[in-house]
Amino acid sequence: MGNRAEEAKQNQEENNGNMAIETPIIPLLTPYNMGSLNLSHRVVLAPLTRQRSYNNVPQPHAILYYSQRTTKGGLLIAEATGVSDTAQGYPDTPGIWTKEQVEAWKPIVDAVHAKGGIFFCQIGHVGRVSNQVGEKSECPHSLLPMRKAFKGTFLVAGGYDREDGNKAIAEGRADLVVYGRLFLANPDLPRRFEFNAPLNKYNRETFYVSDPVVGYTDYPFLDTSSYVTKKKH
Ligand SMILES: Cc1cc2nc3c(=O)[nH]c(=O)nc-3n(C[C@H](O)[C@H](O)[C@H](O)COP(=O)(O)O)c2cc1C
Repeated sequence: MGNRAEEAKQNQEENNGNMAIETPIIPLLTPYNMGSLNLSHRVVLAPLTRQRSYNNVPQPHAILYYSQRTTKGGLLIAEATGVSDTAQGYPDTPGIWTKEQVEAWKPIVDAVHAKGGIFFCQIGHVGRVSNQVGEKSECPHSLLPMRKAFKGTFLVAGGYDREDGNKAIAEGRADLVVYGRLFLANPDLPRRFEFNAPLNKYNRETFYVSDPVVGYTDYPFLDTSSYVTKKKH
């Protein structure tokens, strides 16, 4: 029996016959230092407008939504957030220009921080969002000259799956990979990538409905009982 087979067998025995699925450390799950911020992995939550901030005030249900998607050392980019009432392109998108809005963000930010997440706010105008949602149209290699010229942290987004993301990192084409629809539908996306587990399918119909739960915090987590994390040496 080869070494790998031996190891797999041993793993299986250690787990009392549970299906021990080998999970090698993949490029997406390697740490990255972004300036003074130490990220534990490279799977980033994309800014996702969800239109559930009634009258532009962030709501308590966003606490659960964002904390579901938080991992220790993971980076999250909050949905587009308006800085004035003229910057709001869509109804029920959050703002950060009144005291009430600022106060309403606090428990959300606190919940992300409590789980060790790093939370960025996307400030700006949401009018361009609809143009951004689409399949990956650009060959990622065309970003290479930009990548080489740019000294900061380079993030890529748009149609990436586990395999594309791993390749982008392994080939040095990106430092971090931003996931939108897959993260929306898989609150535990980094974990699913770790185990190469199946993904929940996203439901477009509920992207922007105002329900505080449906299509928002009700995407199921992976049942990890049959998966075993590879020990880090
Ligand atoms: C429901 C939804 C809302 C989005 N809202 C924003 C947003 O607020 N700001 C932004 O820059 N991009 C927004 N996007 C674009 C995503 O951040 C991301 O770039 C896009 O979904 C492509 O990545 P993906 O293929 O992994 O989904 C949104 C996308 C979706 C699906």
